[in-house]
Amino acid sequence: MFQKLLSYFIPITIYKKNSSVSKRLEVTWNNGELVLDSRHTNYSYGSLQRILRKGLKYIGFERIRNFESVLVLGVAGGSVIKTLTDEIKFKGKITGVEIDENVIEIAKNYFKLDAIPNLELIIDDAFEFVLKTKLTYDLIIIDIFQDTMMPNFLFEDFFIQRINDLLNVNGFILFNTMVITAHQEERNLLYKSKFNGNYSLRMYPKVETHNELFTIKKLAR
Ligand SMILES: C[S@@+](CC[C@H](N)C(=O)[O-])C[C@H]1O[C@@H](n2cnc3c(N)ncnc32)[C@H](O)[C@@H]1O
Repeated sequence: MFQKLLSYFIPITIYKKNSSVSKRLEVTWNNGELVLDSRHTNYSYGSLQRILRKGLKYIGFERIRNFESVLVLGVAGGSVIKTLTDEIKFKGKITGVEIDENVIEIAKNYFKLDAIPNLELIIDDAFEFVLKTKLTYDLIIIDIFQDTMMPNFLFEDFFIQRINDLLNVNGFILFNTMVITAHQEERNLLYKSKFNGNYSLRMYPKVETHNELFTIKKLAR
C-alpha cells in the first residue's frame, strides 16, 4: 500500500477526531505501522505496544498462555490485546474496558478488534466497572491515560483494594505508568509501599524513556 510505504519517510495521518477524554485522536501510518495517538502521546501500537509487551515478557508468555481470564483497563487501539492473541496465542477470555466510544469505533474500524472471538469490549469508566463486576481475573492490565495524564483514582487505596479483590491467587497485575516529574516518582514509590507480604511487586523503571511498569503477583488471599 502506497501510504504504508511512504510512511517510512514521513508519518501520514489518515483519520482525526476530537475527543473529550483524549483531546484528539489520530490514526497515523508511521514507519510502515498503523498507530493510534492522542494529542501529545502514543496510545496504541508503536512504543506503547513495545512497553506492554515487555511487561508481559517479565510475567512470562508461557505462564500467561495458561491463564483463563484477562482484564484490560484502557483498550485504545488494542495493541496489548493483539500481543496476547497473536504473539502469546492466548485463548482464554479477554475483557476490555474503555471509557471513550470514539476510541472503540477506531479500534474496530482501523485495528479490527471486533474480529477477535475471545474478546468482550465494554464501554465504561474502569473505576465504575471494577465496582460492578462479579468476576475475578488471572491477569489485570491497567493502562489508563487521558492524553498524558493518569487519573488519581488509579493510585488511591479504594481502587487498589478493589483490583486486588478481583485478582485470583497466583495472578498478576501489570500497571503502566508515566514518570516525568519528581512528584510522579514519589507517587509511584508510595504506590509500591501499599502492597504487603501477600504480594510480590517489581518495578521496571525507564522501560521506554518515561514509562515505569509494575508487575504485582498475588501470593495469597
Ligand atoms: C495508552 S491508551 C491504552 C492502550 C492499550 N492498552 C493498548 O494496548 O493499545 C489509554 C486509554 O485509556 C482510556 N481511558 C482513560 N480514562 C479511562 C477510564 N477512566 N476508564 C477506562 N478507560 C480510560 C483512554 O481513552 C485511552 O484509550
